[in-house]
Amino acid sequence: LSTDGEAHEPAIGITLTAFKGGQAKSTTAISLAAMLARRGLPTLLVDTDAQCNSSGMFVRWDEVKFGLRSAIVDKVPLDQVVQHTRIPNLDVLPASFDLTVLEREMVVTANGFKKIEKVLRPVRSAYRFIIFDTAPGLSHMTIGSLAASRYFIIPIAPEVWASDGLRMFMTWIGEQRDDEASDAELLGLVATKVDSGTRISRSLLQQLQAGRLPAFKTWIPKRVGNEDAIRDRVVAGERAADPDISRAYDELTEEVLARIASFEAEEGRHRA
Ligand SMILES: Nc1ncnc2c1ncn2[C@@H]1O[C@H](COP(=O)(O)OP(=O)(O)OP(=O)(O)O)[C@@H](O)[C@H]1O
Ligand SMILES: [Mg+2]
Repeated sequence: LSTDGEAHEPAIGITLTAFKGGQAKSTTAISLAAMLARRGLPTLLVDTDAQCNSSGMFVRWDEVKFGLRSAIVDKVPLDQVVQHTRIPNLDVLPASFDLTVLEREMVVTANGFKKIEKVLRPVRSAYRFIIFDTAPGLSHMTIGSLAASRYFIIPIAPEVWASDGLRMFMTWIGEQRDDEASDAELLGLVATKVDSGTRISRSLLQQLQAGRLPAFKTWIPKRVGNEDAIRDRVVAGERAADPDISRAYDELTEEVLARIASFEAEEGRHRA
């Protein structure tokens, strides 16, 4: 495991989630995890989406012997499931196509949604952050990721239907909280794929700044080269990455760290 040999406070879990597909959840999960690791913070990226998009940036899906389901169902020890990546301090717990089966298994198992949190317990203090990439929509896998997280982040792209879905999604997350499945807090919404030349992009940024929900000041610019970067498995911060996207994710990571620090300080005050 990518530890610095020290035992830490249990890692802080952050889930990337959105109702609508294609909002840059995976891109943001990968980039945030990489930027945290670059700051010397041991980070584990957990891919809970059967599409294997985020783990695919580091390990080829057809070469994954054990994934999340192997750890949960077949009890394969985590040190055989978690893999180092080319980025120092960044490990990945890969997804595989059998996660579609795990979703159903979670539904029919009592407290199935707690299994992700439980399986990660042994490595929790080896990392500072655990970043969960999730499939779009409402699923037990996502409830499971939220249950293993203290915070969640919702990426939102400038698309009409994305804003429409947000309210419903927040209601659903509120229900998970009422049912005591997860008490993860919204760290913020982040605008992704922003093209400041378009009206809908400008309107999204305005809505986020004026809205009730917390939003990050940093927004991620839209770059047509992004698809090539994915094909070439280039991650933000790497030499071949688009400098504007790398800079934006670097700034977002600063904001995430600052926000967590202020949340934790607030919590400390309540506890005191
Ligand atoms: N900053 C960006 N500029 C341009 N295209 C982007 C940017 N970020 C993401 N994309 C593109 O948007 C698409 C969706 O991105 P991504 O896979 O990260 O979203 P997702 O929310 O994880 O999708 P899914 O719901 O399928 O899991 C991809 O084709 C990706 O290349
Ligand atoms: Mg994805």
